[in-house]
Amino acid sequence: MYDKGKILTGLVLFVAIVAFPFWWSLASGAEVRVPDIAKPAGETQCLEDAETMRREHMQLLATWRDDVVRLRQRIHTTPDGRQYRKSLTGTCLQCHTDKAASCDRCHDYLDVAPYCWDCHVATGER
Ligand code: HEC
Ligand code: HEC
Ligand code: HEC
Repeated sequence: MYDKGKILTGLVLFVAIVAFPFWWSLASGAEVRVPDIAKPAGETQCLEDAETMRREHMQLLATWRDDVVRLRQRIHTTPDGRQYRKSLTGTCLQCHTDKAASCDRCHDYLDVAPYCWDCHVATGER
């Protein structure tokens, strides 16, 4: 009923075609270019280690917003005991003053467009 040979050939061809961008870049020696994210000048530490921040900053900010707007809790304590105001502009962008190089470069690369700056001020002032 089924022609195993044809199905297999079809599958192999399919995978080869779908994987084209990957083996092409391997074969042509082209490097995958990840964006160069700027670290804030004069600062050494984020709220948590860079790996955790990369992975979890979106949830952290969402939690901050709820804490501030709904619960009126405005102080964040880091795992190592430093305290910060729960504020997108007033905290994150005070260190990450170059939003374009610190944040947008990665967001653009990954095609995410946080709408937060429709309302929140994007500069490090305030
Ligand atoms: C429609 C306008 C609007 C949008 C869009 C918006 N916010 Fe807000 N946000 C506010 C207002 C108003 C407050 C209350 C300000 C206060 O009480 O300090 C607030 C407060 C906050 C706070 C705590 C206070 C501070 O200084 O930051 C955080 C954190 C926050 N928002 C994060 C976000 C994030 C993250 C996004 C995007 C995912 C976002 N907001 C999108 C209007 C907005
Ligand atoms: C006190 C200064 C300071 C504050 C406040 C701060 N950051 Fe950072 N952030 C840094 C520094 C310094 C690094 C680089 C740390 C490293 O490479 O070990 C960093 C790294 C990061 C990274 C990883 C960047 C990369 O290399 O890929 C992200 C994402 C990030 N921060 C987001 C945020 C967000 C979002 C906030 C607010 C919730 C915030 N930061 C608040 C100083 C700060
Ligand atoms: C290494 C990559 C990277 C860097 C650097 C980075 N982000 Fe993000 N950010 C992401 C990704 C990926 C998402 C989308 C997560 C999702 O859609 O679930 C995101 C989402 C967000 C959101 C939530 C948007 C929403 O709609 O809920 C906010 C707010 C945000 N980032 C703020 C920042 C700020 C502020 C900085 C700089 C201080 C920053 N990000 C730096 C990768 C990054």
